[in-house]
Amino acid sequence: MRLEGGGHRPEGALVGAGALADPAGALAEPAVLRLENLGKRYSPDRPALFAGLDLELRQGEYLAIMGESGVGKSTLLNLLAGLDRPDSGRVLLEGVDLSTLNDDAVTLLRRRAVGFVFQAFHVLPYLSVEENVALPLDLLGVKEPERSRRTALMLSAVGIAPLARRHARELSGGEVQRIAIARAVVHRPRLLLADEPTGNLDPSSAAQTLALLRAQVKTNAGAGILITHSRTAAETADRIMVLDGDGLKPG
Ligand SMILES: Nc1ncnc2c1ncn2[C@@H]1O[C@H](COP(=O)(O)OP(=O)(O)OP(=O)(O)O)[C@@H](O)[C@H]1O
Ligand SMILES: [Mg+2]
Repeated sequence: MRLEGGGHRPEGALVGAGALADPAGALAEPAVLRLENLGKRYSPDRPALFAGLDLELRQGEYLAIMGESGVGKSTLLNLLAGLDRPDSGRVLLEGVDLSTLNDDAVTLLRRRAVGFVFQAFHVLPYLSVEENVALPLDLLGVKEPERSRRTALMLSAVGIAPLARRHARELSGGEVQRIAIARAVVHRPRLLLADEPTGNLDPSSAAQTLALLRAQVKTNAGAGILITHSRTAAETADRIMVLDGDGLKPG
């Protein structure tokens, strides 16, 4: 089934999106992510942060976006994940125009298809490390023992398996960042969005994390965007673009 934006049954779109798991049909499928003429302005008295952004990410594509502080990189990721609404243009995720979905439908689509490493982590301090990482699986209804198996694999992959039972609030900034990364990829999302995911990590943990994020994008036949201020980090992606007041340009 093809996914079309503008459908009046958003839940149908969710069922249809499952067809994308079939790699044989991959070429016929819509881009994982498509931006059309996207613009965002926070207030009428301030200039638009950006306008007229166009971008397409197909299966397996991993893009790094750089840009000065305050240009709107985090804002852009929020729009792509449907956490915020644009003022102009549209975002299509797996061919579904987010503007045609109500908030609940966007949430369901995001839970299944998007993994997000937030710049501010948003790790829940009173949950244990493993409970934080298992959260996306809980929300998708993944049952035991599969839930524990996948959670444990991710904790090992980011090097925090020994901390599984500790509360997140007891951990260092770098350890919390690794929880955020494990949680963003544990449900194998089609679209991985990582906002400065290695800012708190030492060089060797950063390199390990960047390799994990890249592998995640490549093995899930999904797409990914890495926001970073580090050119070395950006070079782990397939291509680099720079966001500034004039838009997105090759960097
Ligand atoms: N919810 C909001 N309401 C109003 N203005 C906002 C909001 N969120 C961000 N801004 C403003 O929009 C601009 C872009 O913010 P954003 O966080 O997207 O920048 P950024 O490129 O991610 O910066 P950094 O590299 O420092 O993380 C900033 O000037 C910020 O103050
Ligand atoms: Mg930011």
